[in-house]
Amino acid sequence: MIKMLKIAIAKGRVAEKVSELLLDTVDYRNIIDLSSRKLIFTNKDKEVVFFLAKPSDVPVYVGSGAADVGIVGKDILMEVRSQTYEILDLKICRCRMVLAGPSEKEQARPIVRKIATKYPRISTEYFNSKSESVEIIKLDGSIELAPLMGLSDAIVDIVESGKTLKENGLIVYENICDITARMIVNRVSYKMKNKSINTFASAISTSFGGGGTNAQSIVMG
Ligand code: PRP
Repeated sequence: MIKMLKIAIAKGRVAEKVSELLLDTVDYRNIIDLSSRKLIFTNKDKEVVFFLAKPSDVPVYVGSGAADVGIVGKDILMEVRSQTYEILDLKICRCRMVLAGPSEKEQARPIVRKIATKYPRISTEYFNSKSESVEIIKLDGSIELAPLMGLSDAIVDIVESGKTLKENGLIVYENICDITARMIVNRVSYKMKNKSINTFASAISTSFGGGGTNAQSIVMG
């Protein structure tokens, strides 16, 4: 297990896209099977273990060294700070972090006092940067419900297709930032397992046409 490269992948949309990308690689195809309920996928020949974790737990696994590598959305990395290296933008699972709310408001951006979100840190930093004081209400899902049920004036959430907002009568008031899936690496693993990490990063980046990676692409997480 010590030699194995342990890779934590965020369950859900990221895992679905990553398993598609891995189909185009020579070494890592057909290891992950998302049709099963298994969480851990080991390939001894390739010395790799993939495991599926809740997105917000991926930086925790990688930061602690329980995983060498993680693949997770930038939204999670902005919200859950970890002492990891971010080495690659996979350019998949592209979406936007937005401030959104009911469409019946006439102005594009009404004054908001109460915000519901899964992202309290991102929301706080956003409103601090605008010197606006708001109450942040932390929810765990279906954030769009909050303004519709009178819990908040608006939401800070991710929008991918825009379908959920539209079908619930909400509109984007402001864009906060663009989001894509990123590869993060444990700091010790980056030294100790550099070769296998780079082999994996190159394989996956070739598969999405990202052109490989190198040490210069490292930024602190
Ligand atoms: C996310 C997000 C929105 C939705 C946006 O929720 O919080 O609700 O996706 O996607 P769309 O723009 O393509 O409609 P997710 O599906 O992760 O579930 P959750 O509400 O339980 O967090």
